[in-house]
Amino acid sequence: MSDLTAPVARRDVAFHIHSQTNPTLFEEQGPLVVARGAGVRVYDSDGKPYIDAMAGLWCASLGFANPRLAAAAARQYAELGFYHTFFHRTSEAVAELAEKLVALTGMDGGKAYFATSGSEANETMVKLAWVYHAARGKPTKRKVIARDRAFHGSTIAAASMCGLPFMHREFGLPLPGFLHTLCPDPYRGMLPGEDETAFVERLAAELERLILAEGPDTIAAFIAEPIHAGGGIIVPPERYFARIQEVLRRHDILCLDDEIVCGFGRTGNWFGKETVGMRPDMMALAKGLSSAYFPISAVVVAPAVYDALREFNRQGGAFGHGFTNSGHPVGVAVAAEAIRIYEEMDVVDHVRRMGARLRAHFEEIGRASPIVGEVRGAGLMLGIELVQDKATRRPFAPDRQAGPTFDRLAYENGLIARCMGDVLGFSPPLIVDEADVDEIADRFAASLMQLERVLPAG
Ligand SMILES: Cc1ncc(COP(=O)(O)O)c(C=O)c1O
Repeated sequence: MSDLTAPVARRDVAFHIHSQTNPTLFEEQGPLVVARGAGVRVYDSDGKPYIDAMAGLWCASLGFANPRLAAAAARQYAELGFYHTFFHRTSEAVAELAEKLVALTGMDGGKAYFATSGSEANETMVKLAWVYHAARGKPTKRKVIARDRAFHGSTIAAASMCGLPFMHREFGLPLPGFLHTLCPDPYRGMLPGEDETAFVERLAAELERLILAEGPDTIAAFIAEPIHAGGGIIVPPERYFARIQEVLRRHDILCLDDEIVCGFGRTGNWFGKETVGMRPDMMALAKGLSSAYFPISAVVVAPAVYDALREFNRQGGAFGHGFTNSGHPVGVAVAAEAIRIYEEMDVVDHVRRMGARLRAHFEEIGRASPIVGEVRGAGLMLGIELVQDKATRRPFAPDRQAGPTFDRLAYENGLIARCMGDVLGFSPPLIVDEADVDEIADRFAASLMQLERVLPAG
């Protein structure tokens, strides 16, 4: 990947541990040194441009060098470079952003809490779910149900909620009390002869079976991404959340919405919950909240959750939770500016138009390709599943490395995508224009044709 004798590569290999990277392979291949960004492109240290069709990690929604976000951060650093939100402290910007998030999310009468990463936001939701039930005299309601193939972060509870074995393997996770139910993947999960309605009924019945087996009085919450991101861009069938939430309500279980990827326009609505018909009790926001220009996240809760927190501490205790940088003034200033930009560009309309254009390209390319099994997704969050056999949906054997080989070819062609197994993910910055979308599609088509030559179907 890089010249291992170059000073940055040498130092990086010698001193730096990388996330989600195989150590041996990294020592052999070295890093991709990203030197600068401009719009939807990044440039490596040799000056080679890449169109980053993943917005980094599904997050740089406004591209890689937005001058307004830089100016908002600089202004705030000059005025107040740090303050915290413990012990009643706040600032005008924190109060304003909290109000804005409650309004945007439609959590009427609710409140917002700030943290610094998506994982922290998800962990905060779990702790609030515990307080919620304890305050209502149900302290045994502690377990959390997530789904297979979910991604919810890397801290210990968040990783326990992931439904991806590679997040558990090295660490003896999940922790006890973190359970998993079926993934609503129509392409891989439907049984022969089953239609989507029957599939949804089976998923709801399986969830209820798990709840009854564990004991409803032991279950605090169910957590879900509206559309699975890292698990392979999985759009649940219609009515999935409606049916799942009937089950949750019946057993007094909170619904936690991980909007960390889906939020702020990504799926063609302000929030993924609108795209899939989910009605959560709490929402976790991060990534697009600040276009990832600052580590800031938030949890927005329904009034009942806040009421429970107040009641629990009625006798004088304090909410025993908080991060040094919760409500960091610079993060808040950057997030407020990012939201202003989303509103000015009419992010929902823009994402719908660009998403439809990209999807149309992918579908056309997919129809002509013997190895594209399915194109799926919503807005600018699209997935392409590669298969050995389109008719039977037979996957490639894992040792054929279809997805990783595509990633390497795309990278050589100046396109950054992301394979999740043999699902290719596309989640470009939301500021892509028609020409960018066409370029992503062209580079995708070229890389796919190269892949077909080295990895024939059949
Ligand atoms: C859906 C989802 N939830 C949570 C997280 C964790 O966020 P963070 O890496 O900021 O802790 C991620 C990160 O990719 C994510 O995709």
